[in-house]
Amino acid sequence: MSDEPVMRTQVGIVGAGPAGLVLAHLLHLRGIDAVVLESRDRDYLEHRVRAGVLEQATVNLLKEMGVSERLEREALVHHGLELRFGGRRHRIALDELTGGRTITIYGQQEVVKDLIAARANAGAPLLFEVEDVRLEGVDSARPVLRFRHHGEQRELRCEAIAGCDGFHGICRDAVPSDVLTVHERVYPYAWLGILAEVAPSSDELIYCQHERGFALHSLRSPQLTRLYLQCDPGDRIESWPDQRIWDELHTRFACDGWELHEGPIVERGITPMRSFVAGPMQHGRLYLAGDAVHIVPATGAKGLNLAVADVRVLAAGLVRWFDEDDRSLLDAYSETCLRRVWRTQYFSWWMTTMLHRAPDDRDRFQANLQRAQLDYVTSSPAAATSLAENYVGFEHDVSERIV
Ligand code: FAD
Ligand code: PHB
Repeated sequence: MSDEPVMRTQVGIVGAGPAGLVLAHLLHLRGIDAVVLESRDRDYLEHRVRAGVLEQATVNLLKEMGVSERLEREALVHHGLELRFGGRRHRIALDELTGGRTITIYGQQEVVKDLIAARANAGAPLLFEVEDVRLEGVDSARPVLRFRHHGEQRELRCEAIAGCDGFHGICRDAVPSDVLTVHERVYPYAWLGILAEVAPSSDELIYCQHERGFALHSLRSPQLTRLYLQCDPGDRIESWPDQRIWDELHTRFACDGWELHEGPIVERGITPMRSFVAGPMQHGRLYLAGDAVHIVPATGAKGLNLAVADVRVLAAGLVRWFDEDDRSLLDAYSETCLRRVWRTQYFSWWMTTMLHRAPDDRDRFQANLQRAQLDYVTSSPAAATSLAENYVGFEHDVSERIV
């Protein structure tokens, strides 16, 4: 990467989360230049604990991209999950219900580590700790990214810009407000998530519905357990000392013959539950992807997977444009992606409302509907299959293979 104040590239990518990094590597594999600008430092990105569940299509793509060597050694493949309610356990056999498809447990920060390493090995530009990124001329043929790096003001002239800068990023704001339509639901609950240094208490994920609220048992490795509790969105993490967290988890997960293992809590945080879609996902030469344009409540484990699905479509469109001067795939980018986005929004909303306690459910209407739905999903193969096929995820919608 040159130190000149003015640089040029084909695609300027803002954000080095899963969306930005997967896009950058896909383009690299097809010989398309990109520069990735990231506001955080590398260490922060490599240790930020977030998602953990990868769909089959995400794993397949990472394999095809040649960045799965560590994933194939360390990740845990899951063939089923558990729904727990009324103190009873019900297994959903994901693989049997979907013709052999599975999910893979591998922390988002590990995916990010592998992709940053791939970019570094390729000697391709990824600038950390950039400041004050601004977009200019996105509806012209010469869009520009201006930013500061190491105290120097820089200008990056691009042919296209990919806004992969997450929900709190700045790229979405570059789309005029009379062009962008926003759809949003904020739920009356949040998740308190912890990472505990203790062997998981189950080999598979447990989604637990309880009258005190939802709980989720997940894992990261044979020594690390990831647990979540439904809490109030106004709760502060200080009002949840360790003992309160464990007591609440024991109460919600309680069932005969099963025990929750406790261990030192090494990470904790509260995440609001939100559904959000902004569209169109493109404007002029700006293409938005991942959390920058949509957020799903985490109950469906879909956010990272959706971000990857977006950039796969975007990469195919950019390749077709740069290689063949054909913009048809790129022009259809938003429409193609939004089909998957809304299907995933539906599934995530459905899982969320089926499993969380509604705080204002005075006559227990919602609670009775939830129980009816949970009984159905755990007794009808058709209903279980619907959950399973959505949970493992659908194939990516691409008419052009990149790798
Ligand atoms: P991000 O990961 O947010 O990346 C955006 C990047 O842009 C960041 O690195 C940020 O620092 C950078 N950035 C922001 N602003 C700027 C700027 N102005 N200039 C330069 N850089 C900028 N998803 C799943 O699929 N499965 C799960 O199991 C799951 N569990 C989750 C659990 C929790 C607790 C949370 C919080 C999320 C979970 N998700 C899950 C969602 C998932 O983490 C996100 O959907 C995913 O990170 C989206 O990737 P992204 O690249 O679009 O955005
Ligand atoms: C996680 O392991 O972090 C995780 C698992 C399943 C979810 C959300 C998060 O639905």
